[in-house]
Amino acid sequence: MIDAMIPLMKRSAYGARIVNVSSRLGRVNGRRNRIGDVSLRDRLLKDDCLSEQLIDEMITKFLEQAKQGTWSLNEWPQMYTDYSISKLAVNAYTRLMARRLSDRPEGQKIYINCFCPGWVKTAMTGWEGNVSAEEGADTGIWLALLPQETDTNGKFFAERCEISF
Ligand SMILES: NC(=O)c1ccc[n+]([C@@H]2O[C@H](COP(=O)([O-])OP(=O)(O)OC[C@H]3O[C@@H](n4cnc5c(N)ncnc54)[C@H](OP(=O)(O)O)[C@@H]3O)[C@@H](O)[C@H]2O)c1
Repeated sequence: MIDAMIPLMKRSAYGARIVNVSSRLGRVNGRRNRIGDVSLRDRLLKDDCLSEQLIDEMITKFLEQAKQGTWSLNEWPQMYTDYSISKLAVNAYTRLMARRLSDRPEGQKIYINCFCPGWVKTAMTGWEGNVSAEEGADTGIWLALLPQETDTNGKFFAERCEISF
């Protein structure tokens, strides 16, 4: 979808902004939820190693293991494993795209960031959670409407503060 949208965004006179909705569960190195495979963790965190191929390989490997019933918590995130891996991919792709988009000329700038809305009362959580949909949307709207001169790019946010990938 991002690839399809970028040609339309070129026409923006201001820095156009992409905001990906992610989750803290998708952190590579979270305190309570992290990828067990140390080599994959390192490669995902190194800008030089990060590529679409690496992201695809990670997803394909997990899907294959899930199909065969061979996946293990030692290798993958421990909490909500499938969901966490999908958000890991969103986060990694955000960083990758930020790099790719960073050399666009004035007038064609596009900034891309991602954020975690917190634990939000929506259908997805069965209306549990500790913040409303409006509160959960706050950081995303803030990122979309950052002042024109702000060049924040390729970062991860929660409650309007930058957090680590
Ligand atoms: N809720 C949380 O605590 C929480 C925390 C972290 C991140 N997030 C993220 O926030 C985002 C929104 O989640 P939510 O909590 O608002 O969940 P939600 O209430 O379940 O809403 C999900 C929305 O996505 C739409 N959708 C699902 N599959 C789709 C598809 N294949 N094509 C097009 N639209 C599709 C649904 O449309 P229909 O209504 O038509 O089915 C619905 O409007 C998600 O990316 C989620 O991972 C949520």
